Amino acid sequence: MRGDKATIDHAGFIPNNPLPLTTSMTKGSASSDAVPAADIETNFKPTDLRGILKYIPRFRNQIFVISLDGAVIADDNLANLLLDIAVLRSLMIKVVLVHGISAQLTELAETRNVVISNSDGTGVTDGPTLDLAVRASSRVSHLILEGLTQSGLKCAITNAVRALPIGVIKGEDRQFTGKVDRIDKDTLQHLFAADIVPIIQPIGFAPDGSTLRINSDLLAVKVAAELGATKVIYLSQREGLNIDGVFRRDIAVEELATVLEKSPETINDDVRSKAEHAVSGAKSGIPRVHLIDGRIYDGLLNEVFSSDGVGTLIYGNDYQQIRSATRSDTRFVHSLIRSAIEREELLHRDLSAIEDDIESFFVFEIDENIVACISLHVYPDRPETAEIGSLCVMPFHHRRGIGRKMVEFATLQAKAKGATQLVALSTQSTTFFSRSCGFALADETDLPSSRRSQAQSNGRNAKVLVKSLD
Ligand SMILES: CC(C)(COP(=O)(O)OP(=O)(O)OC[C@H]1O[C@@H](n2cnc3c(N)ncnc32)[C@H](O)[C@@H]1OP(=O)(O)O)[C@@H](O)C(=O)NCCC(=O)NCCS
Repeated sequence: MRGDKATIDHAGFIPNNPLPLTTSMTKGSASSDAVPAADIETNFKPTDLRGILKYIPRFRNQIFVISLDGAVIADDNLANLLLDIAVLRSLMIKVVLVHGISAQLTELAETRNVVISNSDGTGVTDGPTLDLAVRASSRVSHLILEGLTQSGLKCAITNAVRALPIGVIKGEDRQFTGKVDRIDKDTLQHLFAADIVPIIQPIGFAPDGSTLRINSDLLAVKVAAELGATKVIYLSQREGLNIDGVFRRDIAVEELATVLEKSPETINDDVRSKAEHAVSGAKSGIPRVHLIDGRIYDGLLNEVFSSDGVGTLIYGNDYQQIRSATRSDTRFVHSLIRSAIEREELLHRDLSAIEDDIESFFVFEIDENIVACISLHVYPDRPETAEIGSLCVMPFHHRRGIGRKMVEFATLQAKAKGATQLVALSTQSTTFFSRSCGFALADETDLPSSRRSQAQSNGRNAKVLVKSLD
């Protein structure tokens, strides 16, 4: 669901004077080993534009903190990335850029034959390392300024990060390594108001004006938490999160926190620090953290504007993604369940029937996209019994626990309404209800008489399943 750069430009999304296509339209780089270089063909379709348009009211004025690893800044894809950031700005999304410098610092140290004490701002930063870090940082910021200027965006490097020395940890003096003391929110808000993209270096200033090196992963979540950002997007050289060698497209923060606590070694070590910061960020109220490969052409926009994305989405609390449906969700709910209706998995319901009943629906969203729904009705003639229906999970998201979570959530809602028994009618998913959700096969006679005659007359011959809520 992405358009190529030129065509979006034709549609008028990009501010004047977009970045010229001097870099290749390929992904991969000299330093790349994870992603094979491959030409990416993108053909923009009108449906892509419609797909993006629906996000405009949702994302307008939200804040995204985009954190770019130094290695991503050194990659050929940087020009495309900065152009994607211009697209986000043109959709009225407020963007803050935080950048790393590890790759540049290491390179500078090699060129100058200096032994550095640490490259990523987590260990000891001695005097010579700090000196090189400041140089690497101004070079990286300058590259970003250049790119954003070519994209017609106003931007500014700030001193909005006040830092304090980390001090001595386990007997080791971390010297010029800093932690975030305070983020100057006012300055950043002023920049937003003036339509300026703030660029934040991994360098902070202590109250006495001295300079300290800060890890950029940490900085990104601190800035996001302070600003009440909706997303932190980490762009690195890795596709996202692998746990035990299995790539995860999305993961609840609670699950990630458990893995980090009990078996951190199962997470690929090059994103473990980002995973840790994602968990602490979620605890401070950031709803979503994305880990994506910054070298993928179109990757950033794909991650933001498609439900599947290209990387890993780490999302906040379990039921946070479930909400009551509203009238404006009718079309999405209808298109979600339409194919299940065609396969006779669900009872036929047309658009107007769904619209009339939309208040009985709950929907599950991943990154603003509805991927599952369920309805709940309390029988008017038997208020101690409620029925769940129209349970449907988008096939791409099957077998990730969403169906069960929807049933659990509906169960809580039914209990809250005073029901002591939950009913489900199913033609093809009886095992799901019985094995995975604690329902037992029952008999039509367990239904209230009005519901029984309705079930008998529709010819579906659905099985009746019942669960006690006591
Ligand atoms: C049935 C449906 C809602 C399951 O959603 P889901 O998100 O894939 O299910 P979950 O990931 O929560 O699965 C939980 C468990 O149920 C099992 N399961 C999932 N779908 C199943 C099915 N159709 N039959 C039997 N078991 C199933 C899973 O393997 C998993 O078991 P595990 O915990 O042992 O690993 C989904 O397949 C769907 O939308 N089907 C089409 C519509 C439909 O039939 N709706 C139900 C009628 S109201």
